[in-house]
Amino acid sequence: MANKQLLSKENFPVFEVYPGLVYLDNSATQQKPKQVVAAVDEYYRSQNANPLRGLYDLSVKATDAYEGAREAVRELLNARESCEIIFTKNASESLNLVAYSYGRAFLKEGDEILVSIAEHHSNFLPWLLLAKEKGLKLNFLECGEKGEFTEEALRAALTENTKLFAITQISNVLGRLNPIKEFAKICHENGTVIVCDGAQSVPHIPVDVQDLDVDFLAFSGHKMPAPMGIGVLYGKRELLEKMPPFLSGGEMIEYVTREGATYAPLPHKFEAGTVNAGGAVGLKAAIDYVKELGFEEIEKRERELTKLCFDEMAKIPHVKIIGSDKAEEHCGIITFDIEGVHPHDVAAIFDADNIAVRAGHHCAQPLHKQIGVMSSTRVSLAYYNTEEDVHRFIECLKQIRRKMGYDE
Ligand code: ALA
Repeated sequence: MANKQLLSKENFPVFEVYPGLVYLDNSATQQKPKQVVAAVDEYYRSQNANPLRGLYDLSVKATDAYEGAREAVRELLNARESCEIIFTKNASESLNLVAYSYGRAFLKEGDEILVSIAEHHSNFLPWLLLAKEKGLKLNFLECGEKGEFTEEALRAALTENTKLFAITQISNVLGRLNPIKEFAKICHENGTVIVCDGAQSVPHIPVDVQDLDVDFLAFSGHKMPAPMGIGVLYGKRELLEKMPPFLSGGEMIEYVTREGATYAPLPHKFEAGTVNAGGAVGLKAAIDYVKELGFEEIEKRERELTKLCFDEMAKIPHVKIIGSDKAEEHCGIITFDIEGVHPHDVAAIFDADNIAVRAGHHCAQPLHKQIGVMSSTRVSLAYYNTEEDVHRFIECLKQIRRKMGYDE
């Protein structure tokens, strides 16, 4: 299919149901193209059985579809082996898996965990809970005034006891790309494991886990644009091999007796119970979609839209953009504050104009506290947005203070 069609809103059924919707909440979840909806529909029509169990034809088909999706994720992330790809329900579950399994087994009292201050709660709370449970010290990597995390700051924050560092590749508030490859190198020189939240990066830029050399990386399918309920944990094989199971139950065992159990080999050791095969099939279709379009095209389109939006926003009085003052340092995400107007009022005014943005703390309260605002409004763009979407957003933004009773 030509790129023009893949980029077109006509390819996304939601815009037929909601014509005129300006959807600018892509960091929360992306809308789904027809191809993804069709792939899930087709799976349930012609391939559905419980995968990994049956010896009959339909179950083998379901298994092949499920494992085919795993191979597609392996290829997307350039992981060495498909057994390094664990299916979960979302990035939060993936990060919890690492905290509960790796963290509980290998971190001990006196060890330290370092987390960046810009983490989504899903890459913060698992570490906070683990630290409380195990008597670990939790330290923070602070960002600079423009939301930047530097190698110098990381070197200064690491101690000989830092056993794990958790950081997002792109913050869901700041939209800034962090130098994960350089950070992984620094961490490994210090004997520190690096856990990367790829929820906001994997859908938008090429992510190569071998090149980055991260130990773990998590993302959610639904931001890709796959269905909700399917997520991924990538982990280096040598780490996953030695980790105990996270959830227990069906299909994650090799042999069970009254006294104990041995566990299935990777990746199934970490996939207890009936899996989300339909979601995995949808994820494969989303990956195929993104690949057909190409990351070069996605990045180009999102860069252009971000620049247009950022430059127009920067001209509006009383609008304060959070993070970098350079458009190119916002990967499709622009979070802002309007002086004197609560973000919930901002979002309600946008909604009245059929424009969807997110308002609140964006599951990043420690970062908001550091910035000095309780909440903010966020516009997040995807390749299928248009210049017209941006213009409608800007026209509405210009009116908000007047609508709230200010003179300008
Ligand atoms: N993590 C999603 C967001 O940032 C829900 O909106």
